[in-house]
Amino acid sequence: MGEVRVVEEPADGARAADGLVVLRGVDKHFGALHVLQDIDLSVARGEVVVVIGPSGSGKSTLCRTINRLETIDSGTITIDGRPLPQEGRELARLRADVGMVFQSFNLFAHKTVLENVTLGQVKVRRLGRAASEEKARVLLDRVGVGAQADKYPAQLSGGQQQRVAIARALAMDPKVMLFDEPTSALDPEMINEVLDVMQQLARDGMTMIVVTHEMGFARSAANRVVFMADGRIVEEASPDAFFSSPRSDRAKDFLSKILHH
Ligand SMILES: Nc1ncnc2c1ncn2[C@@H]1O[C@H](COP(=O)(O)OP(=O)(O)OP(=O)(O)O)[C@@H](O)[C@H]1O
Ligand SMILES: [Mg+2]
Repeated sequence: MGEVRVVEEPADGARAADGLVVLRGVDKHFGALHVLQDIDLSVARGEVVVVIGPSGSGKSTLCRTINRLETIDSGTITIDGRPLPQEGRELARLRADVGMVFQSFNLFAHKTVLENVTLGQVKVRRLGRAASEEKARVLLDRVGVGAQADKYPAQLSGGQQQRVAIARALAMDPKVMLFDEPTSALDPEMINEVLDVMQQLARDGMTMIVVTHEMGFARSAANRVVFMADGRIVEEASPDAFFSSPRSDRAKDFLSKILHH
């Protein structure tokens, strides 16, 4: 078991300077719906932030703005001190710097597991075939699916597919990994094998933003919990503080629902 990390609470300026992913005053609308409202969030290098909150609160939209799958109306987002590129090759590079794992596995169905993990390395990172395959095999071993390299995604369990998706993202040497409910489509017996891989990543120092309601994971892996409701960050705290003594009524109400069902 890794040691418990201390949640640092530096002055705002210090954290912003230190932030690998920094959102400042981010607003986004979908038509009349104000889906992200004045979001300020700074995630330090090596920090693991769990985002939690009711359905429709904007968690997925937040993730999607960070790798520019969604544009924002106002505010700024920087990754490693650089504003998000608008388009073109720079944007492709940004997407590689920001690994994303979704609820549904999003693997290429007509490509083998190995090809799924080599494709981006060759296209975006310009790695040669042999080097990209070697790296893919190392990563597939690391997430425990090395033996499945020549199969197609449909021949794998959901848990195995999700671990391939993680390996595929890692193959790009991302600076940060975003996970949007990575275990919520999995059968219960497969949830832990994916969470274990994520735990290990966290221990290895990966910067991670994880939307999940898996409180065990949040308690053991997260440095900070961010609670969202109605497009706003309502509360931020260490996992222990958040789960044992939430401050806002919204968080109390939400936790009573997920704890009692
Ligand atoms: N492309 C879109 N066009 C219009 N409205 C959208 C779009 N994507 C999301 N929304 C709306 O924005 C709000 C926030 O959605 P989002 O998916 O970010 O919530 P969430 O917190 O991830 O919810 P869940 O826990 O159900 O995944 C919801 O009301 C949703 O219906
Ligand atoms: Mg969502």
